Amino acid sequence: MVKENLYLCMGSACHQLGVYEVLPHLQSLMNQHNLNEKIELKGSFCLETCSSGIVMKFRDKHFIHISPQNLEDKFVREILPMIK
Ligand code: FES
Repeated sequence: MVKENLYLCMGSACHQLGVYEVLPHLQSLMNQHNLNEKIELKGSFCLETCSSGIVMKFRDKHFIHISPQNLEDKFVREILPMIK
């Protein structure tokens, strides 16, 4: 089965906003929801919506205003339904 990519922006604006704090949480959410067979988590260059960071992208959709505090909520409500 070919994995789909889930991108997490590692650009400088998202870096400033705490992407390195988001990353381990995101990895554990992916484990928790058994997504590692389906999804490849990839760091990405700037996704060009810096003023709305932290940004993730899946297929053509950007997920914006992610923070370490709201990651789980956004992941479960917005990202997970698209993956499953
Ligand atoms: S640095 Fe993340 S969108 Fe530009």
